[in-house]
Amino acid sequence: MFLGEALKSAIRRLTAARVPSPRMNAELLLRFTLDCDRAYLYAHPEREITAEEQTRYGKALAQRARSMPAQYITGHQEFWGMDLIVNPAVLIPRPETEHVIETVLQLVNGGRASLPGMRIVDVGTGSGCIALALAKELPDAEVHATDISPAALEVARANAARHQLEGRIEFRETDLLEGLEPASFDFVVSNPPYVGESEEDQVQLEVRKCEPRDAVFAGPTGLEVIERLIPQAQAALKPGGWLVMEISGTIAQGTRRLLARWNDVEVTNDLQGIPRVASSRKHE
Ligand SMILES: C[S@@+](CC[C@H](N)C(=O)[O-])C[C@H]1O[C@@H](n2cnc3c(N)ncnc32)[C@H](O)[C@@H]1O
Repeated sequence: MFLGEALKSAIRRLTAARVPSPRMNAELLLRFTLDCDRAYLYAHPEREITAEEQTRYGKALAQRARSMPAQYITGHQEFWGMDLIVNPAVLIPRPETEHVIETVLQLVNGGRASLPGMRIVDVGTGSGCIALALAKELPDAEVHATDISPAALEVARANAARHQLEGRIEFRETDLLEGLEPASFDFVVSNPPYVGESEEDQVQLEVRKCEPRDAVFAGPTGLEVIERLIPQAQAALKPGGWLVMEISGTIAQGTRRLLARWNDVEVTNDLQGIPRVASSRKHE
């Protein structure tokens, strides 16, 4: 079979399976199978696909047709300009989580956080995306990262090593901030699980079927993890330290209520106008 034919037939197969953006997915998985760029696909439609390549492409397409996200099939996702390894033990990093990084950098660059000896902890690090981005952007900061999932921490450690940041981030398997030194952090940063089980039918099928349930769902309302995180962050932060969390529109009001006793509470929207980052400051 030729490359051009293989691509056309893959697009038909993914369309029939109702996979969104079938052409983009068929191209991505063919590029992954042949280890080539997009230009190569269109420059060589007459290139013969070997039997072994056909088998691998067929397997990838079958996984995608069963709603497996393309990132878990290729094993990669980009975040903050870094290529990260992902597998079904971790949430696939989302572009909107980059707003968390931007918020922290704005607070630091605006002089609203102390630079020398800055200590940051990323709670629920998953792939390590937030911890890695902050370690990269803030070379003098001491970065810690926690997760309750040992399998997720394995991925995060591999990503840190891949980006030569393994010496910069201290990973720890724990429940939120349990066991971390009190009153010692300038930033507690987190993209915690925040989807409510009551919203489950509005969550994309791919997410429900393939992403780790404990990374996505917090409990019945979506506020359950944040509710526990806020008092723990209060204890872990230095006076005047910042709590920066990713949230959703559904829990924005509830989050504000839980932060009622904090200073400088601000909720900023993402590019789609959805409340996405809640930042707040511990009193001095
Ligand atoms: C929404 S994911 C975020 C992953 C990553 N930080 C990101 O932004 O892509 C939430 C993460 O929190 C972890 N988690 C869930 N409950 C936790 C808990 N009680 N303590 C620590 N980590 C937890 C999950 O294993 C998952 O990796």
